[in-house]
Order: sequence, then structure tokens, then C-alpha cells
Amino acid sequence: MALIELQGINKSFGTKDKKVSVLENLSLKVEEGEMVAIMGKSGAGKTTLLNIIAAIDYPDSGTYLYDGKEVKTRNTSQGIKFRKDRIGLIVQHFALINDFKVYDNVELGLWETNVKGSARKKRVMEVLESLGIADLKDKYPNVLSGGEKQRVAIGRAIANNHKLLLADEPTGSLDSDTEQDILNILKDLNSKGMTIVMVTHDEDVANVCDRTIFLDKH
Ligand SMILES: Nc1ncnc2c1ncn2[C@@H]1O[C@H](COP(=O)(O)OP(=O)(O)OP(=O)(O)O)[C@@H](O)[C@H]1O
Ligand SMILES: [Mg+2]
Repeated sequence: MALIELQGINKSFGTKDKKVSVLENLSLKVEEGEMVAIMGKSGAGKTTLLNIIAAIDYPDSGTYLYDGKEVKTRNTSQGIKFRKDRIGLIVQHFALINDFKVYDNVELGLWETNVKGSARKKRVMEVLESLGIADLKDKYPNVLSGGEKQRVAIGRAIANNHKLLLADEPTGSLDSDTEQDILNILKDLNSKGMTIVMVTHDEDVANVCDRTIFLDKH
């Protein structure tokens, strides 16, 4: 059974008389354990698609099945509940909290979970170490390089060890060595069983994935 299945999804933005259709009759499947790239030009609806899979946004029509069950989430608190044990998310442009240290940014990934107290501390340190950023734990994001920030964003997304990781251009604006480091981290997570859906503009990045889904509206 597919981990994610979208059937005939439609999504538009705007008001009734000024509607912009973004996703039209989109159907796709992602199997458990796959690493899939999403490509398409700017404005094609890649972030919109990830937001629907993460239940941050909702389709106008069509069906979304996660692990065979229909996702009918239609508000923020339902969305948080749906995501918390299922989906880690790396949003476009990192979105780290600048007033929080690296440690606290990663710990945010355990927000609203049952991982508390010393288990929480242990998990955050484990994640920081696995990403090679444990020595940065007391630094604030504004002193970090792009690659370091990206590792922190990955740390926050994987802290709760979800089945599914959604990543919106995780290697955007990184130099090729750092891009390779980040890809190796994602590949490693995938080889340990995490399903990954990743938006990218870069064909070399897409080639590392098992397959590519193209969003090519217009
Ligand atoms: N909340 C919103 N309200 C109105 N329009 C929106 C909203 N979110 C997205 N859009 C529009 O939907 C279209 C798709 O946006 P989306 O962010 O999904 O594109 P994208 O493929 O991720 O682009 P990029 O590669 O630039 O990140 C764009 O035309 C955008 O302006
Ligand atoms: Mg986008």
C-alpha cells in the first residue's frame, strides 16, 4: 500500500471572480521507503503540494490518503495532530527561529510530542551529533553558514523520527560540496527507512532520488 496517495486533487487560490488554479486533477502515489523528487518551474505548485501532504493547507477537491486512510484535516489544530507522529517538514528557506539557539531550534521538532525531560535532551543531542553540529548547539542561527542552518532545519524535521520527511528545496542556494553533504544525510535517512519527498530545481539532486514527479502546469 502506498504511504501517500493523492487522487484528482484540485487547488486554487484567490476569490471567486479572480481564481488562480494551481493544482489541477493531480494524482500521485509515493510508496513507503521511496525517495522522490518534485520538480517544476517557479509557481508550478510544488510548495502547495507539500503543504497539502503535510495538512498545512487543504485541497478544494480530490482525495488524500496517508497510509491508506483518508486525511480530512481542515484546520490548524487537526493539522498539528495529524503531522506530529507522521511527518517531518523542512520548509523553503529554513525558517529557523533566530532568537533560539541551535539546540532549541532542534528541540522544537519535539514540540507537542510525548518525548519529555531527559529523553528529550538525549534525542536532541543524538540528532545534533548525527548531523555533525553538536558543537554548534549554543550558537544562534545568525552566525551559522547556509549549510549549517540547513542541518539545523533537518535536525528539527527528523527529531521525532517520523515515517515521512517532506523537504522544500533542502539544497537550494548551497555550494556543491555542501549540497552533497546534505544529500548524503538525506540518502542515509532514506536508507534507514524514512520515506522522503523533496522539492528541487536541480537535476543533479533529482538524480539522487528514486524517481521524479514533474509539476508542469501551463
Ligand atoms: N496562500 C496563497 N494565496 C494566494 N496565492 C498563493 C498562495 N500560496 C501560493 N499561491 C500561488 O500559487 C502558485 C503556486 O505557489 P507555490 O508556492 O506552490 O509554487 P512553487 O512551485 O513552490 O514555486 P517556487 O519554486 O518559486 O517555490 C503561485 O502562483 C503562488 O503565487
Ligand atoms: Mg516553493
